[in-house]
Amino acid sequence: MIIEDDPGLQSQMRWCFDAYDVTVVDTRETAIAEIRRREPPVVILDLGLPPDAEGTTEGVAALGEILSLTPNAKVIVVTGNDDKQNSVKSIGLGAYDFYQKPIDPDLLNLVVQRAFRIYELEEENKRLYHNDGSKMLEGIIAGSDNMDRVCRLIEKVAPTDATAILFGESGTGKELLASALHTLSDRSDGRFVAINCAAIPENLLESELFGHEKGAFTGAVKRTLGKVELADRGTLFLDEIGDLSLGLQAKLLRFLQQRVIERVGGREEIAVDVRVVCATHQDLKALIEAGQFREDLYYRISEVAVRIPPLRERDGDALLIARTMLDGLNRKHKRSIRGFNNDAIKAILAYHWPGNVRELENKLNGAVILSEGKQISAHDLDLEVPDESMTYLNLRSARHEAERRVLRQALAQTSGNLSRASELLGITRPTIYDLMKKHNIGGAPD
Ligand SMILES: Nc1ncnc2c1ncn2[C@@H]1O[C@H](COP(=O)(O)OP(=O)(O)OP(=O)(O)O)[C@@H](O)[C@H]1O
Ligand SMILES: [Mg+2]
Repeated sequence: MIIEDDPGLQSQMRWCFDAYDVTVVDTRETAIAEIRRREPPVVILDLGLPPDAEGTTEGVAALGEILSLTPNAKVIVVTGNDDKQNSVKSIGLGAYDFYQKPIDPDLLNLVVQRAFRIYELEEENKRLYHNDGSKMLEGIIAGSDNMDRVCRLIEKVAPTDATAILFGESGTGKELLASALHTLSDRSDGRFVAINCAAIPENLLESELFGHEKGAFTGAVKRTLGKVELADRGTLFLDEIGDLSLGLQAKLLRFLQQRVIERVGGREEIAVDVRVVCATHQDLKALIEAGQFREDLYYRISEVAVRIPPLRERDGDALLIARTMLDGLNRKHKRSIRGFNNDAIKAILAYHWPGNVRELENKLNGAVILSEGKQISAHDLDLEVPDESMTYLNLRSARHEAERRVLRQALAQTSGNLSRASELLGITRPTIYDLMKKHNIGGAPD
């Protein structure tokens, strides 16, 4: 973004930066409005803006506002010839660099290039920092604190033989974590056998679970082992346990108490050694209240209960997962898409992901197939770009409130002694006057 009021310099700089996506504005107000909308990584700011084109008040005010709206932006301040004092002052206020007129296009171009480079490095650095420290479970992409806690819990529980139940909305990774529990356990040489209690008709489920003998019912042409028996020495994953009928709940409870099964149509009791992991998206307590789920079974299966947070509650994970999955999808679809554009990033972070990771996976897959650009856009993902003006407004008013509160506290603590209050706040006396005026707090001289 170029903030410059001189038409001649405007066109010179447009030409100088025609390789960039440039926005040119000529006042502080329009600059701030555009900054809100675009968050440009690099800003060239002329300190002499109208109505104070000969002085620096508008420019300096703009600098402060830009940095409070986009603290990471690299602001290059352009000052008058030989105006060392304001150049230095700007750096003190947080400008990235300064440049003194007259403008040499090649030189300014170098400064801008370097600013972009620094901006990118800082962003990258932040990303790495956030991903660090979370040792991943195999196949599980997670960087947020709450998912990190879940992963640590899984690691801790895995080597025990405790029965575990995983609660989570659809697509949150219940099956993935159940299989991680298995892989990290002493049973990893055995099988991980999953059965979805909601997907199999009730009359077939018993035989699916416990197996049947030849001739047990019409169509039972040979002996067939059930999932429980197949999981012997391994892990049995009972998905959607909340959908199990009361009759089968009783049979499952009996198995969990006695660790023996009887195949349908069979007479012998067969000992089976399995570790049971269950999952559900339902509220089992409510089902118990409603008389649809046995309380005694609930206690049997929930020696350890793990709540998997929905994707929207995992700070930044949606983007981390999207970035990580993009590599695999590029390979799968033989494409070479390089990341996400700004709109896509904002949309991914703002969307509430009712279908969680599964939905994210599906949307990404579609986007990689359909995308026509080098980067995936919000449109490719079929997501809406959030309207951010509201968030900024809130952020600004939150800052305003905080400032006011701290100021009042400092004044109260020092019984209104402005020197001591400004010392306490780490600001100068003129600044504390300004703040008091701004917040309409009495005592400041006019
Ligand atoms: N943290 C994660 N990192 C990478 N992939 C994940 C993560 N969580 C889930 N997935 C992937 O998302 C998809 C859905 O996960 P999974 O089947 O384990 O969820 P679920 O909770 O069992 O869903 P449902 O309720 O629909 O059965 C899978 O393809 C899984 O590999
Ligand atoms: Mg599942």
